[in-house]
Amino acid sequence: MVETIEWTPDGVVMIDQTRLPRETVYVTCRTYVEVADAIKTMIIRGAPAIGVAAAMGVALGVMEDADFDTVCDTLARTRPTAVNLFWAIDRMKALKASLAGAPRAQLIERMTAEAKQIKLEDVAICEAIGRNGAALVPDGKTVLTHCNAGALATAGYGTALGVIRAAVAAGKQIDVFADETRPFLQGARLTAWELDQDGIPTTLITDNMAGHFLRSGRIGCVVVGADRIAANGDVANKIGTYSVAVLARENHVPFYVAAPISTLDLTLSSGDLIPIEQRPAAEVTQVFGVPVAPEGIRVENPAFDVTPAAYVTAIITERGVARAPYNQSLRELMKQA
Ligand code: MRU
Repeated sequence: MVETIEWTPDGVVMIDQTRLPRETVYVTCRTYVEVADAIKTMIIRGAPAIGVAAAMGVALGVMEDADFDTVCDTLARTRPTAVNLFWAIDRMKALKASLAGAPRAQLIERMTAEAKQIKLEDVAICEAIGRNGAALVPDGKTVLTHCNAGALATAGYGTALGVIRAAVAAGKQIDVFADETRPFLQGARLTAWELDQDGIPTTLITDNMAGHFLRSGRIGCVVVGADRIAANGDVANKIGTYSVAVLARENHVPFYVAAPISTLDLTLSSGDLIPIEQRPAAEVTQVFGVPVAPEGIRVENPAFDVTPAAYVTAIITERGVARAPYNQSLRELMKQA
């Protein structure tokens, strides 16, 4: 499996996800501003992965002796929807506060160790999500996924793809349908590539084919990741997830969300309060720089949508599987240490 992000003596090294699958290129961020730019430009993307990147960015900022609030604010302003970004920055802030008055060398040592620890924990969390979710995947069927919630979207193994990997490891005969995920094509470029590398049988479909295949009886379940989950179980995830969830419900196909506890935002009572990132029009009007629409056409490009909890069969976390009523089940999982 590829290394998504790594702390090295030269800086934070990331695989450039804007160039996959055509080129496997690594980018080295030597400053916190370069990490912030990498998050903003989607060199690294996926909720848990940008959390790890932000933590490493904070550690770089401390090494640079930059103003701490400026470092945290710069990283926090990169992308608004995935709560893991803010969760990771808050964790680094709390550690910094606990080290008030510590010698600079100790501060650097502890902050870099914490960022590396967040990465290590994320891999273990994804493996636990995989173990908890594998039993839900029907043997001998196809699993539909949307966007990329794989090793590339995390520090390794993945959330939704972690569930698929664990089901395969448990000996289940499954194959995967990957939605291409317009406009950024995370499904075509990243999920299809990642699963192919692992030898997991994968079929790429365009987003508008999902209903057709959900109706066919071939799809045993849908598994997707999440960027933020509200207290009532509403799920923000890549644009198009909501349509898949409604089509899954209509066709009696279970719709599972796989996400770490750090994706829960119980401060928000409903998904309507989740900030939705709006991305540049060019992502819609062009494909790899080639115009596919009339010049000057009005465009909307929300990067995420919210799937109401009513469409979510279960939320698979590292601490167990939550089901409705989510106000209760998510709070119980959150309380577990
Ligand atoms: O815009 P992206 O590529 O960062 O969006 C990613 C997703 O929507 C993923 O499904 C989500 O972050 C979960 S990743 C484990």
